[in-house]
Amino acid sequence: LKVALLCGGKSAEREVSLKGGQAVEKALKSLGHQFKRFDPATDLPLLAREAQNYDVAFLVLHGPGGEDGTIQGFLDSLGLPYQGAGVLGSALAMDKALSKILYQQAGLLVPKGLVLEKGKTLPEIDFFPVVVKPVSQGSSVGISLVKGPDELALAVEEAFEIEDRVLIEEYLAGRELTVGILGEEPLPVVEIIPGEGHAFFDYEAKYTPGVTQELCPAPIPESLAKEAQKAALQAHQALRLRHYSRTDFILLENKLYILETNTIPGMTETSLLPLAAKVAGYSFEDLVQKLLDLVLA
Ligand code: DAL
Ligand code: MG
Repeated sequence: LKVALLCGGKSAEREVSLKGGQAVEKALKSLGHQFKRFDPATDLPLLAREAQNYDVAFLVLHGPGGEDGTIQGFLDSLGLPYQGAGVLGSALAMDKALSKILYQQAGLLVPKGLVLEKGKTLPEIDFFPVVVKPVSQGSSVGISLVKGPDELALAVEEAFEIEDRVLIEEYLAGRELTVGILGEEPLPVVEIIPGEGHAFFDYEAKYTPGVTQELCPAPIPESLAKEAQKAALQAHQALRLRHYSRTDFILLENKLYILETNTIPGMTETSLLPLAAKVAGYSFEDLVQKLLDLVLA
């Protein structure tokens, strides 16, 4: 196949994207596919001119501009197929506020929360501690944990520097689980154990090898694992996703709360979906080939 590999981009997750791009590049090479790398930060005009030379685009892009439907719309217009969610699914999943509404409609449990728009007065919150986050960022960008009312204004202000809508969500001090979907099949559940001194939402902890520990299959009862897998598939369907996705949960008092769904899950060496795929019997190359097969099916 001739593959246009898209990685880089302008979002805060550029570095993660480049690392994942390298891993995918290696896999494409060993699978015997031809490919060329394009960085959406600079190469979109070039891609538009050359699109007809490729069979498929492979996206390793995260956050705004990569996972939010814009690049998907661009590729649709060029007639170049790509792995993962289309325009609508990407846009819905990128917006944590809209996702929450769809999760709830599907009968899934979400943490209590509210959306605040820039310029509006800070509401009374009676469920501290809370997590404050921009509605559409990945990898914990712009997130803070707020223990009480005194710290709220500053956290909200910081999140507003990134985006005009922020989510204020009840902080659930539970175990962190994540479940990948590949095709329409849930992968084994992963538990993420943050390193000492790092909170669960810490960007650095997520991408420094050795800081967080990932356990797969997660050491939880089989019935709970099944429940998480079912919920991840429901989330995938509720957000109109395709090919693959990865949904993050908090497990607290035997209840599973959905935090978010990633439509282009990280593909670095420490990333979670490749780990779960490996436990399910897919090497990294198998995973890349499976995604290409899903696109071209
Ligand atoms: N947003 C990162 C890349 C992930 O969820 O894997
Ligand atoms: Mg994410």
